[in-house]
Amino acid sequence: MQQRTSSSASAGARTRAKTSSTTGSTKRAASPKTSSRPGREPHRDLLKYREEFPILQHKTYLNSCSLGPLSLRSMAGMARFQEYWNEHGAQAWYSIWLGEIAAVREKVARLIGAQPHEIAIAPNVSIALSEITSGLDLGDRNKVVLAEMDFPTLAYQWLVRKESGVDIEFVRSEDGITLPAERFAAHIDDRTGLVATSRVFFLSGYIQDIKTLAETAHRNGSLLLVDDYQGTGQIPIDVKALGIDFLVTGTLKWLMGGPGLAFIYVREDLIPKLRPTVAGWFSARDQFQFRTTDFEYKDTASRLEAGTPAIAPIYTASASLDMILEIGVERIRERTMFLADDLVRRVQAKGWPVRSPLDGTQRSSIVMLGLDRPDELVKALSERGIVVDYRPGLLRISPHFYNTVEENQIIVDALDELLRQRGS
Ligand SMILES: Cc1ncc(COP(=O)(O)O)c(C=O)c1O
Repeated sequence: MQQRTSSSASAGARTRAKTSSTTGSTKRAASPKTSSRPGREPHRDLLKYREEFPILQHKTYLNSCSLGPLSLRSMAGMARFQEYWNEHGAQAWYSIWLGEIAAVREKVARLIGAQPHEIAIAPNVSIALSEITSGLDLGDRNKVVLAEMDFPTLAYQWLVRKESGVDIEFVRSEDGITLPAERFAAHIDDRTGLVATSRVFFLSGYIQDIKTLAETAHRNGSLLLVDDYQGTGQIPIDVKALGIDFLVTGTLKWLMGGPGLAFIYVREDLIPKLRPTVAGWFSARDQFQFRTTDFEYKDTASRLEAGTPAIAPIYTASASLDMILEIGVERIRERTMFLADDLVRRVQAKGWPVRSPLDGTQRSSIVMLGLDRPDELVKALSERGIVVDYRPGLLRISPHFYNTVEENQIIVDALDELLRQRGS
């Protein structure tokens, strides 16, 4: 295979422009296989957004579950932040920046079906989680149930509290890919204070049945916390309809807003019960009265915000949230489901092991391939202008709405060549 240079990338773009609909299907049968018949490619009109992402002009970018690409409108947002800083100095806080924070809170609330006062901001998901865990009094219900396949930062919140009497149970997956809700049910009982798990597993792309988990947790008197970092922006969510008590998510991945900003949703009636010990003047009611000798929490989820927020990521994320809301996550899901399905079909045709669900309704747009030494493959692919990543023993490919079936073929061809060179 030739080195993938900018000229081969633009040749790819020309091919893309010529190709009409290709293989794949948005409607999946309940068969364990991915759909076998080609179908109509949904929302190809969304490819008009490609011109908003400079990186897509010179890379085959299939890594949005690690880091979403930077758009021109996010760059413009960041430039605007700097201009306000230059123009207004400290006045920018009151006249502009606090308003932009409020706008972002409102956009995230809209995206997940919450109310703005139920949303707190945090610098990353780990801190967001520790704000919740530090503020949650489990009382006699000291058991926390997690999934072994969750992202480790979720479990660490509780592992560091083990000595204070928290009883942690991990639900194990039989195949390392899926985790039916019944397996959770076997661990949730009247000692359980919290079930904390991800909607989408970062290791397999499996989508958990959150509604059933919420029902099981609530039936047993437990609360449910969802880590939605791998779900928000690629799969629609409505926290109220699903019965979620707490949710954490961030802007880095499918929301394409870059690092430095995460969100916490707290169900309205739980806000007064959360009393985080990670606190600060942004958690305090009457913050601008500057009272030193007593402290009262804010009435809103902002009680989980400790200090001065970083404003630059607010601007990059505010712009990318606009794009996500403008497109609509339903359309994104229809398109990414098609792309992931198409990719799985091409990979299966090569006989490579897929370590993600084959049923497209259970799978997000994270496709894992069980390949040896994936780190070497990621490096070799990057030399060809193809960006993906890996986890131990797994190559991870994650198409977003701006990707194409032609890009799926580009990575399959490149992998084919690399694996042939290896003789495997
Ligand atoms: C599902 C999930 N949760 C949490 C994290 C960690 O987030 P942060 O680095 O913002 O703490 C990641 C990072 O990849 C993740 O995939």
